[in-house]
Amino acid sequence: GLKKKEVNVLCLGLDNSGKTTIINQLKPSNAQAQDIVPTIGFSIEKFKTSSLSFTVFDMSGQGRYRNLWEHYYKEGQAIIFVIDSSDKLRMVVAKEELDTLLNHPDIKHRRIPILFFANKMDLRDALSSVKVSQLLCLENIKDKPWHICASNAVQGEGLQEGVDWLQA
Ligand code: GTP
Ligand code: MG
Repeated sequence: GLKKKEVNVLCLGLDNSGKTTIINQLKPSNAQAQDIVPTIGFSIEKFKTSSLSFTVFDMSGQGRYRNLWEHYYKEGQAIIFVIDSSDKLRMVVAKEELDTLLNHPDIKHRRIPILFFANKMDLRDALSSVKVSQLLCLENIKDKPWHICASNAVQGEGLQEGVDWLQA
């Protein structure tokens, strides 16, 4: 058959936000890992949709590994940025990392699409995607297409909406 168009995606966000859980859910069920452990460094994952073939750089969000992110910015054609909507204490840290990303020379002047997942929406004290969007000041992103979806990566809810947006 025809070879699908390949897209490199960077999956970024703080540790414990749910990046690996999200990527795992997007894979076919026979390729899904059963237990998910904190990512060390990064991991390269692949999955296909009906139209595209995705290569995802699933980066560790731990502080000591965040300096790895920028080495992959040039290769990224889209970004998935994951936020733990229940982690109110670290929302300011997530915003700092997002602002650093947006100001990076390899990102700043590119119209690279950014998909935000306001993840862990199932938790009782989770903030709404609107509130997360306000706290991260997403309305200030004017030079890149962006979209935010509430998600529950454990149950796989909200993920397809996000991938559909990325593919559109
Ligand atoms: P690092 O690799 O350390 O950067 O973390 P990560 O962003 O890849 O997070 P990971 O996918 O490892 O998930 C961290 C924890 O959050 C795991 O225990 C997941 O089961 C849990 N988790 C992920 N998504 C959700 C969600 O939507 N709801 C709930 N309740 N838990 C979630
Ligand atoms: Mg991970």
